[in-house]
Amino acid sequence: MFDLHCHILPGIDDGAKNTETSLELLKEEAKQGVNAITFTPHFHPNRISPEDFIRVRNRSYEKLMAVPEVQDMGIKFKCGAEIFFSTKLNDMELDQFCFTDSNYLLIELSTDEKPYGLTHTLIDIINRGYQPILAHVERYPYFTSDPTKLYDLVEKGCIAQVNGGAILEGDKICLKYIKWGMAQLVCSDCHNMNSRSPNLKDAYRFIKKKFGEEYVEWFEKNARDVFAGRYVDQPMPKMPKKILGIWL
Ligand SMILES: [Fe+2]
Repeated sequence: MFDLHCHILPGIDDGAKNTETSLELLKEEAKQGVNAITFTPHFHPNRISPEDFIRVRNRSYEKLMAVPEVQDMGIKFKCGAEIFFSTKLNDMELDQFCFTDSNYLLIELSTDEKPYGLTHTLIDIINRGYQPILAHVERYPYFTSDPTKLYDLVEKGCIAQVNGGAILEGDKICLKYIKWGMAQLVCSDCHNMNSRSPNLKDAYRFIKKKFGEEYVEWFEKNARDVFAGRYVDQPMPKMPKKILGIWL
């Protein structure tokens, strides 16, 4: 299994505070059956320069890789970032934030208002040759209140990611995204061992029970392709329709 969104690198964001916690999280990932991980610490363009972020991230990565136990876990690692959306992305060098050896960029949005210039900026990013992955799409009210907005972005080439935690909580819109084929990736977005722990095996078990084995295979194939830097061949999702006030 592949976990492509997590906050396991030590001392860089609101995830693991030190290498001990990182190690605990990695052990739990291994227990869940994960053998490939992309580290995606938060990057906020308004709070830190890209150069400083990359320097701090690489230092944190090297610190974790220097722990002998980590090397013996049989897990493959890549680096990336969870970029907070801003129209500044239009003017930024984005290669440095891509998942290692790929053109995939993980982008999170504000949970308050629809970010100014969202569609325009994402299209610009795609036209520059990058593949945006929208992080935890179940969280944004401007998608959940009108899922056709997310449909439009997926149609334009964005990949939609949902969190294992939302699936396990039975988040209604998250499960509808899965049913419609709107979500292409499931990740843990793990931060700690308490409230936001590694949970991919549990999330896939839930999906298998509710939707069938083929959904799990599809999610796993997509994650494998993203990790390998390959194009995700995604069929267009079902267009959500609102009938009697309910999205179906
Ligand atoms: Fe995250």
